[in-house]
Amino acid sequence: MQLKIVGLSVVALAASTFAALLHAAAPSQGLSVDIASPAVGSRAPWGSQVPYAVTVSYDGKSTKFGEIPSNQVVLRAVFAANADSAPAAGVLPDGVAEISRSNCSGCHDFAAASAGPSFAAIARRYAGKGGAAATLADHIRNGSHGAWGGGTMPPHPEISAAQATAIAQWIVSQAGSSSVQYAIGRTGTFRMNATGKPGPHAGTVLSAFYTGPLKPGDKRGPASGRNTLAVHGS
Ligand code: HEC
Repeated sequence: MQLKIVGLSVVALAASTFAALLHAAAPSQGLSVDIASPAVGSRAPWGSQVPYAVTVSYDGKSTKFGEIPSNQVVLRAVFAANADSAPAAGVLPDGVAEISRSNCSGCHDFAAASAGPSFAAIARRYAGKGGAAATLADHIRNGSHGAWGGGTMPPHPEISAAQATAIAQWIVSQAGSSSVQYAIGRTGTFRMNATGKPGPHAGTVLSAFYTGPLKPGDKRGPASGRNTLAVHGS
């Protein structure tokens, strides 16, 4: 009897030690968004195209192992006359988050024409036109043909009216801005765009975002990890 109790408690002790070890080894569950490259303190020539890499981990999943799809990562690059103190990442516009979660980037780039017109070109065409956001929201959900040449945009019935409106409003109000760039994906490139003649402290401020689903009660920010970074121009 005595022996049996000792035996049992040894098993219980071993089990709890094992559980503690497992817990210590488990990946962090909270949201971490980390700009892995470029490195802190990097410089890049104005006008150059610079590669970036972002690692996101959340709820035991990571972009490293593909459990978080690459399109749920968005990088924003903004020109700053003084990039010495990088500001907080802030929030990503809803429209950009919706674009990253859908298949839009397969046919649309933010700044360059691909299968479809760039979001910047769409913004320029509809700038100042009354009802533009409502028209575009309708075309996003129901498809479009003939407005930009011979191409056809398939309908997106899975996008709600509210989501389409958020995208359309972002396009008409902000997609034409040349000082803010977006890139979708855990790796990609951004351009060292300067406004005017950049001074010695000028640079590009990068902010990275996760746009994938969250567990109920979890917040998108502030995420841990280095989610903002300044790259000075040279
Ligand atoms: C299979 C390729 C494809 C996909 C996917 C796609 N588009 Fe398009 N999109 C196009 C083409 C091609 C056009 C030009 C259509 C035309 O000439 O009327 C276009 C046009 C547009 C326009 C302009 C419509 C107009 O009336 O001028 C908007 C806005 C737009 N797309 C948004 C989106 C969004 C948002 C998504 C993702 C939810 C998306 N597109 C997905 C190919 C695509």
